[in-house]
Amino acid sequence: MNGQADRLRALMERAQAVPPTKRVETGRRPTVTLAVASGKGGVGKSHVAVGLAGAFSALGRRTVLIDADLGFANADVLLGIRPQATLADVAAGRSPLSAAVTPVAGGFDLLAGIGGADVREADDERRLVDRLIAALEAVDRPYDVALFDLGAGLGAGARALLLAVDRVLLVLSTEAAALVDAYGLYKWLVQAGQAAVFVVPNRVPDEAAGRRLAERFGDIAEHFLGRRPELLGVVREDDVIARAARQGVPPFPLPERSRARRDFAGLAVRLVARADGKDPDRSAGAPAPPAAAGRPFGALVARLKARLFSS
Ligand SMILES: Nc1ncnc2c1ncn2[C@@H]1O[C@H](COP(=O)(O)OP(=O)(O)O)[C@@H](O)[C@H]1O
Ligand SMILES: [Mg+2]
Repeated sequence: MNGQADRLRALMERAQAVPPTKRVETGRRPTVTLAVASGKGGVGKSHVAVGLAGAFSALGRRTVLIDADLGFANADVLLGIRPQATLADVAAGRSPLSAAVTPVAGGFDLLAGIGGADVREADDERRLVDRLIAALEAVDRPYDVALFDLGAGLGAGARALLLAVDRVLLVLSTEAAALVDAYGLYKWLVQAGQAAVFVVPNRVPDEAAGRRLAERFGDIAEHFLGRRPELLGVVREDDVIARAARQGVPPFPLPERSRARRDFAGLAVRLVARADGKDPDRSAGAPAPPAAAGRPFGALVARLKARLFSS
């Protein structure tokens, strides 16, 4: 147990120390797909998604962040970048996904989302998901990780994505209303057959408070649904983020020593370890297994299609 904790700690230090230019080549492997969700808005989904994307990149994982918040997309704003193309262009068939992504200084690719004037393009969520499927099918870049930042609510697009991804990260907040909505979403996920759900308490004062929140959530879930989601890790309230929000400036990239950046690194390390078969040492960047057959998004696309045709 202690050995494992030590290895995790060493990995985390490495995650913070590896500069983007010295990233480890990981070879080809199937893309791990993750959705960041919460039920209620304003609990920190987008911060967790952007922070995680940077943390995966620091670990040498080729990462794409797809802003799938339909209508209130803001990952580009949090990063302070102006994307040349967005999900709207992909959805309208104007651009393949590989040409629509914007390289971000943190080392990952962003597919910016739809907001403001472009919202009409996505009026029909099913159509948008159809287009997204076509775009994902055409991707030939070997991404290791694809992160979907979802909006609040359970539209057709969000439902399809939540059930199709490998894992859902459910962001929790201490606010009572947010907790109720998170429970509602968890209940829907369980009943719809998505079992791979992690909880991520956000904006908590310390690790212990985050653990208590996850415990409380787990107790309620277990009582009513007979199962409890696993705690992935805790993200503490970070003054750097709060200050950026007050001043109206982009919080990312976060300073290296900031609390949230360290916490995001911890989340990424644990996810990588899980995806690689619970072996933190091997996951750090040792040679990857031989190329997985098929396209990088093959599994996700197959599941998205199955979901859309069955609903
Ligand atoms: N760890 C954190 N520490 C401090 N403030 C945070 C943290 N995470 C999120 N916030 C704040 O919470 C608000 C909502 O975050 P956001 O990621 O946009 O939520 P969502 O995507 O769920 O709507 C923002 O104003 C942001 O500044
Ligand atoms: Mg958001």
